[in-house]
Amino acid sequence: MAFKLASVSTLALTAALGMTMAACTSMPGWGGAGTNPAVQAPAQVQWVRDVHSHARPEIARVGHVDLDLTADFDRKVLSGTATLDISGRAGADQIILDVRNLDIESVSDGAGRALTWRLSASDPILGQALEIELPPLSAGETRKLVINYATRPDAAALQWLNPSQTAGGEQPYLFSQGQAILTRTWIPTQDSPGIRQSYSARIVVPEDLKAVMSAEMLTPEGEPAGPGQRAYRFRLRNPVPPYLIAIGVGDIAFASLGERTGVYTEPSMLEAVRAEFPAVESMVEEAEALYGPYLWGRYDLLVLPPSFPFGGMENPRLTFATPTIVAGDQSLVALVAHELAHSWSGNLVTNATWDDFWLNEGFTVYFENRIMEAVYGRDRAMQEQVLGWEDLQGELADLPPEDTRLKLDLAGRDPDEGMTNIAYEKGAFFLRTIERIVGRDRFDGWLKGYFERNAYRPMTTAMFLEDIRTYLIRGDAALEEALMMDAWVYQPGLPSNAMAPVSQAFDPVDAAARSVFLEGGAPPQSLWQGWNTQQRQRFLAWRPEGHQAGQDWLSDAQLKALDEGLGLSAAGNSEVLFAWLQIAMTHRYEPAVAPTEAFLTGMGRRKFVLPLFQTLWGEGEWGRDLARRIYAEARPLYHPVTSNSVDAVVGVPN
Ligand code: BES
Ligand code: ZN
Repeated sequence: MAFKLASVSTLALTAALGMTMAACTSMPGWGGAGTNPAVQAPAQVQWVRDVHSHARPEIARVGHVDLDLTADFDRKVLSGTATLDISGRAGADQIILDVRNLDIESVSDGAGRALTWRLSASDPILGQALEIELPPLSAGETRKLVINYATRPDAAALQWLNPSQTAGGEQPYLFSQGQAILTRTWIPTQDSPGIRQSYSARIVVPEDLKAVMSAEMLTPEGEPAGPGQRAYRFRLRNPVPPYLIAIGVGDIAFASLGERTGVYTEPSMLEAVRAEFPAVESMVEEAEALYGPYLWGRYDLLVLPPSFPFGGMENPRLTFATPTIVAGDQSLVALVAHELAHSWSGNLVTNATWDDFWLNEGFTVYFENRIMEAVYGRDRAMQEQVLGWEDLQGELADLPPEDTRLKLDLAGRDPDEGMTNIAYEKGAFFLRTIERIVGRDRFDGWLKGYFERNAYRPMTTAMFLEDIRTYLIRGDAALEEALMMDAWVYQPGLPSNAMAPVSQAFDPVDAAARSVFLEGGAPPQSLWQGWNTQQRQRFLAWRPEGHQAGQDWLSDAQLKALDEGLGLSAAGNSEVLFAWLQIAMTHRYEPAVAPTEAFLTGMGRRKFVLPLFQTLWGEGEWGRDLARRIYAEARPLYHPVTSNSVDAVVGVPN
């Protein structure tokens, strides 16, 4: 069933496989399409086989999801109904949904008549196909399906937090993380990024909690719903890939930032969070000035409890973010620029399959950096680019060459494995290469058009190449040759037209690093005071030429001088602290063990947690004992996304 798109045209393949071009002009569930001019149904969608979904959308597809769920914090279960609007080709007598680790109680039609259904054997990555028999559909018909179901306490998308895992310490908390293929562990639907669905929801929660979703909030204060409970209702008219359906429930307060921006977080964090993000409103304005109107209405942030496994997640209208970006000095706000940029790259123009993940992330890193440049200036943007370039070099050295292509082949693998710096940084440097060669004005004109032409559509690498050849290159053979586009997307490594970015702000930093790390000089205390976070990260990223993982380059005396001179173990900035703890643990520097333990039990962001456990694991029995001891304490605090990754390194503590 795995087939690869390669460079053959999508049209030819869809024809060869007998797939239909689905006409979606009268897509179900657009609830008053036309009342919201921002929502435009694509005239048609080209179905591309997604090997990470059981769905066959060319036969029958979901267009709208309506949830009516109750959150039971004692049992750690969401239960109720998902009512799906479905349509399909004439005569279709079956629809296939994706589910994983769900308890399906019944399936019926809109009139309550039971339908026949069965579950396939479970694949550890993909879960199960839920096949539902239908009286044959007629062309243009929209029908309702009602699925009665419950999630399991260990649903991979969901984390149920005890009060002690929150900032307030009084109330429990629940949040979801759908990307890449985890939505099927809490919603029975077609879980493929090419199958866009609008959604609505009614969520019943204990009365002292509030529910938020990646959607328009219809009942900001909630409404009574039986003893001790309140219900919150939501609606998202813009159709989205199901990985963008998201929920948070907890003791959540709101503060406004600007006309269409604000922050949600626990009350005890609200003031710090509000103070960190005054730039968000101007980020939205600059983003619009670059690539066209923001089509989602509001842009709010939900700053989650510390176990949120990612830095950020671009859930529509409501970016989810880790509290580790609340640094106190706005130094880590590039993450917000990144998630905001996804409102175009990813949420409007969406990777058709996880093999095309670079189209989401590479475009977003490019766009993120343009927002940073517009708001904070060229200098700051170049610093971020240089840090990204160094991350990319590290990734290129670590990965097997076939995983360094932009276009991936993840058949039989977890799409998580495509989440590398290749998609992010090689993708962004590809676009910067095009920008450099054609000039910024021309590039921006094309990119803005690309978002407009392809809004609400799934995008493959081949379709991207076709778009840029049609609208930017226009048959210019010399330009085609200079860009080396096929090499960028289909070949490993970096093509010869890649250029390393340069930041003069890093010159004194590099000089100081050489003096300290190579020549045994004293820590640059006064310089450090004047450096921004990006310069500090650059300093701590220094490694000897040809450095191998685990290899030492500092003495205990040097480590002590650095730690005490620069206050590293006490750093309040999560990126700086993480970079230091990586160095300290590589050297088995005992005084940093307690701060490492505190860091690893204080938050669950995988980008920090996993590399630190990998470092410890590489340090022989000393590190392995430490890793096992810390993980036994930390694992119950982590989201499944993080613990599943760490399990593969440290094992499951008993
Ligand atoms: N969409 C990603 C997060 C993601 C990717 C979750 C794939 C699950 C599967 C998000 O936009 C992202 O890239 N977050 C980064 C931060 C960003 C600034 C690079 C992160 O969480 O570290
Ligand atoms: Zn991203």
